[in-house]
Amino acid sequence: MNDVVNLSLPSKPEYVSVARLTASFVANKMGFDIEAIEDIKLAVGEACNNAVLHSGSHDTYNLEFIRNDLTLVIEIKDFGAGFNYNNYVEPKLEEPQENGLGLFIIKSLMDNVSIETGEGHGTKIIMSKIIE
Ligand SMILES: Nc1ncnc2c1ncn2[C@@H]1O[C@H](COP(=O)(O)OP(=O)(O)OP(=O)(O)O)[C@@H](O)[C@H]1O
Ligand SMILES: [Mg+2]
Repeated sequence: MNDVVNLSLPSKPEYVSVARLTASFVANKMGFDIEAIEDIKLAVGEACNNAVLHSGSHDTYNLEFIRNDLTLVIEIKDFGAGFNYNNYVEPKLEEPQENGLGLFIIKSLMDNVSIETGEGHGTKIIMSKIIE
């Protein structure tokens, strides 16, 4: 049986650390090394920041941490505005920018990332990492 941890957090920046701490706890229990745990915390923090900052005025968003043998799957779902992912352009690293890095960071740090979103439909980002 997979262990599953579910969290519902207020859509406020000060609670993002609860998500990061939970990610850290689950990843540590699974046996990820410190570097991987830092990557997972960063990716989770970026996804939560997006849920809090971009999703609109909804009160809460949900996280699910699924411990699946050697793979940690994390789903972060908000009930906000969603966005048109077809219009998303990856940042160009040769042109330094301060914003627009979150999704790129998540994709760089995690082994697998998928995004289900649409304008008016909320956003669900599913990311996973496998223990080396
Ligand atoms: N959960 C979400 N709900 C609505 N729109 C989102 C969501 N996540 C991402 N987006 C859209 O995708 C864009 C890119 O997100 P990304 O995290 O890469 O950059 P950013 O949040 O704009 O900047 P940064 O993460 O560097 O502070 C956002 O500007 C926003 O328009
Ligand atoms: Mg962001």
